[in-house]
Amino acid sequence: MGKIIKIFKNTDDLSQFFGKILSAQIQDIPDGKYFSIALSGGSTPKAVFHYLALNFRKKINWDKLLIFWSDERCVASDDQESNFKMTKDSLLDQLPVPAKNIFRIMGENDPSAEATRYAEAVRQFVPDYYDIPRFDLMMLGLGEDGHTASIFPGNLHFFNSEKLFDLAIHPLTNQKRITATGTLINNSKMVAFLVIGEAKSEMVSLVLENKPGSENLPASLVQPVNGELFWLLDEKAAGKLTSNYQQ
Ligand code: 6PG
Repeated sequence: MGKIIKIFKNTDDLSQFFGKILSAQIQDIPDGKYFSIALSGGSTPKAVFHYLALNFRKKINWDKLLIFWSDERCVASDDQESNFKMTKDSLLDQLPVPAKNIFRIMGENDPSAEATRYAEAVRQFVPDYYDIPRFDLMMLGLGEDGHTASIFPGNLHFFNSEKLFDLAIHPLTNQKRITATGTLINNSKMVAFLVIGEAKSEMVSLVLENKPGSENLPASLVQPVNGELFWLLDEKAAGKLTSNYQQ
């Protein structure tokens, strides 16, 4: 399926659109079924989550969500680095999401064992499509080096992995991470990149305009085989795009 690129004036407008996508998708979920979402980490989601907590408390049926993560740092759940902590503080503590529907990656566990455990949890709760769990929505960010989730450049094997989650190492900090593999990401029903700020503009242009060298970047390899791909950008992140993209 094609790539849908939308450019927004600011973070709030981007967050409003993302919230509306979520709200519309969840409304269609039949009784007794759930909407499975994998959240990303980093600073971008933090701003979006704050907005959703403030403006979508009553517009989204939060108890219909099964909440997972696309990656996590191998730290305790109360560590400042934890994606779970960031999400708990900025979103989950403000909303009526039942604890039983929140599936955090246990960063404090042995990474390889946790990648296996978490993959089993996803298999148990996320319906599969051609034998691979299929998230209703995979939320991703974009690193300035072209990484996404915790799939960093030089680790493209994650896109042909037999695994759903695997151990990754941040190339600059050597921080251990657990990441969804490209195999899982590309099986999603919908993938949404949320990218904000001028610092990402070079990488956005490289990836979205298929410039030389982009073919080796993890973010370029995110192409859901049977799903929709959204790139939600603010004007600063889109600042180096040359073509006209739909607003
Ligand atoms: C993480 C994320 C990572 C993030 C990008 C963008 O755990 O950090 O999953 O992939 O989405 O690095 O991060 P920012 O939004 O902070 O720029």
